[in-house]
Amino acid sequence: MIKYLGSKRQLIPQILQAVADASPGAKHVVDLFSGTSRVGHALKKAGYRVSSNDHNEYAYWLAKCYVETDLQKVQSEAETWIDRLNKLPGQAGYFTENFCIKSRFFHPKNGERIDAIRELLAQEHLDPNLFAVLLVSLMEAADRVDSTCGIQMSYLKSWAARAHHDLNLRLPDLTPRSIHGPSKAYCLDALEAAEKLTGDVIYLDPPYNQHNYRRNYHIWETLALWDKPETYGIATKRIDCKTHTSAFNSKTQFIHAFTQLISALKAKTLIVSFNNEGFISRTEMESLLSQKGEVSVQTIDYKRYVGAQIGIYNPSGQRVGEVSHLRNKEYLYTVNA
Ligand SMILES: C[S@@+](CC[C@H](N)C(=O)[O-])C[C@H]1O[C@@H](n2cnc3c(N)ncnc32)[C@H](O)[C@@H]1O
Repeated sequence: MIKYLGSKRQLIPQILQAVADASPGAKHVVDLFSGTSRVGHALKKAGYRVSSNDHNEYAYWLAKCYVETDLQKVQSEAETWIDRLNKLPGQAGYFTENFCIKSRFFHPKNGERIDAIRELLAQEHLDPNLFAVLLVSLMEAADRVDSTCGIQMSYLKSWAARAHHDLNLRLPDLTPRSIHGPSKAYCLDALEAAEKLTGDVIYLDPPYNQHNYRRNYHIWETLALWDKPETYGIATKRIDCKTHTSAFNSKTQFIHAFTQLISALKAKTLIVSFNNEGFISRTEMESLLSQKGEVSVQTIDYKRYVGAQIGIYNPSGQRVGEVSHLRNKEYLYTVNA
């Protein structure tokens, strides 16, 4: 799966355990801020029916692939397609121009192949689940040969060693359908999703600081939308990164948005991930959640994101500082109404 800030890669066992403990016999879990979809993927693999939501388009397609698409439905067709896409010759276009020449996120030899593959996918009228699998396969192949520290706000001064490798698409790890029914992906603002979606358990993993996900992953958004937008800045970001924001990324708006969200949710059990470096403290979060029911908290100590492990660099690639700490605390709140 793609490198992603705030991904719950290291916390999957604790989240699965928290769902099982808080709601024995639960059949349907809703993930309202799904990001990479690794939580929904793990839940579906564990047998739950899952509904996943995120307001960014790339995250919607990740959820459509990892949550909504059942292995049996697309496996053989997807394998044939991936074989064909891996043999397609490169053809420079928008992607190469913006992300390999104007900026240096990818080596041009891979940028050209990404251009050719994405153009072909745009021309074919594929079934949306098959399209999701192929788009995610392309996104993940591109992620394995990028030249970044894990976010697309800047690229490395010299090519990362992996950027020289050849782009190679693989079949994503799809899961069979849950015995509890079909899973589904949504692309809604969290507040709208809270009104619309309900399940036995709702899992919330909102952003915890001002760093906007569409900006951090603008290349994935462009690859998903394939709308070839005007770009700005050294990182050649999509122009709509300036206007497409989230209340959950604003220190002043967070509490209000989160309070509204909590009161709109309709489920007996809520599980919430939040970080000790987030906009609100553990005490504030506990008091907010207690309006919904009884709250218990688990503290998990884990390694900070990759940038923190590497250090602080200026735009010309010189190390200019050390990060203050290498580990974080993640709080896992359970609320039973
Ligand atoms: C901390 S990340 C979730 C990470 C995810 N659990 C994972 O393991 O990959 C928060 C997610 O919230 C999404 N998001 C931010 N504001 C949102 C909003 N207003 N409505 C829906 N999703 C939002 C972001 O796109 C981002 O993917």
